[in-house]
Amino acid sequence: MAWNDGLSVKVQQFDSQHKELVAIINELHESMKDGNSTEIIGTTLDRLISYTATHFFEEEQLMDSHDYPDSVTHKAAHECLIQQVLELQQMFKTGKAIMTLDVMMFLRDWLMGHIQIVDKKYGAFLNSKGVA
Ligand code: FE2
Ligand code: FE2
Repeated sequence: MAWNDGLSVKVQQFDSQHKELVAIINELHESMKDGNSTEIIGTTLDRLISYTATHFFEEEQLMDSHDYPDSVTHKAAHECLIQQVLELQQMFKTGKAIMTLDVMMFLRDWLMGHIQIVDKKYGAFLNSKGVA
């Protein structure tokens, strides 16, 4: 999974955070391909979740500070994504799931879909408030 300019949300701070999220997902993929232990993979998954939580929080704070009109919907989307990935984490921790290509594809779509459909909407609005 590679970053490209088409994924830019026109806010530098969030573009770089999205790049980091892509990097962690790629790391997870590498780790899976290398046949690393559930423990190592689990650690990377934990890192993905905590970085995601921080990123979502920062997006929400910036949206709130500029009274972004779509923030309720956006926050609900974040909440839903976090729930999905926490469920996944729980399944790994309890041994009910292993890291497979399907799971990787789920994570890729989970992240890319949100950036392309939901995050991109705030770009023009925040730019108009002087955020770039
Ligand atoms: Fe985002
Ligand atoms: Fe978002």
